[in-house]
Amino acid sequence: MIKSGFDEPILITVANQKGGVGKTTVTINLAEQLAKQGYETLIIDTDTQGNVSDRLLEDDLQESLAHILDDNKTVVSSAIYPTRYDHLHVLPSGKTDLSDVILKVNRKCTGLRQFTEGLSRIRMEISGDIQFVLIDTPPSHRSLLLRSSYAISDYTLLVIEPELSSLRGILQNHSVFEEEQGLGL
Ligand SMILES: Nc1ncnc2c1ncn2[C@@H]1O[C@H](COP(=O)(O)OP(=O)(O)OP(=O)(O)O)[C@@H](O)[C@H]1O
Ligand SMILES: [Mg+2]
Repeated sequence: MIKSGFDEPILITVANQKGGVGKTTVTINLAEQLAKQGYETLIIDTDTQGNVSDRLLEDDLQESLAHILDDNKTVVSSAIYPTRYDHLHVLPSGKTDLSDVILKVNRKCTGLRQFTEGLSRIRMEISGDIQFVLIDTPPSHRSLLLRSSYAISDYTLLVIEPELSSLRGILQNHSVFEEEQGLGL
């Protein structure tokens, strides 16, 4: 295992409220390159579409992000799966299970805290084993799960197509990232 030079993993949220701009493609390509260089790399899929899992994992998965966020009992390592690439691991979203959890948690006034605590627990439990974490996100701007991803991340990578409406979109995403980082949740 190569040390990244940091004791803690580096977390990067890949985002843009616009759909189909290449977020998942950039996430996977960047993660593959980091893994190729020997860094233990984890992709967390927070998108109910589950495109990361479709591209990198088999279908038959027991545990997922949905289970981790839904309760405080699921052990994080049980929801992390190896891929065909050395050093590259995936924590799948759980697809419809995650949709159900999002619906349930969104109704609570403590929803943002629940998501942030769940993601923070992932960060804590992988510490020492994983050096880079890339969080793939759905096309959204202010969803609770995206805001929680921002809150626990070190960086955000905003993927855009080179056109005016995309540029406007990233300015909105960037301001939400700064808000969540400022809250220090
Ligand atoms: N650089 C590129 N050149 C050509 N096609 C690309 C490029 N990046 C992504 N694509 C294609 O564009 C489509 C959408 O890409 P991708 O799924 O990565 O977007 P996304 O932003 O994650 O979408 P969503 O918002 O639905 O999650 C895919 O079919 C992908 O193969
Ligand atoms: Mg995607």
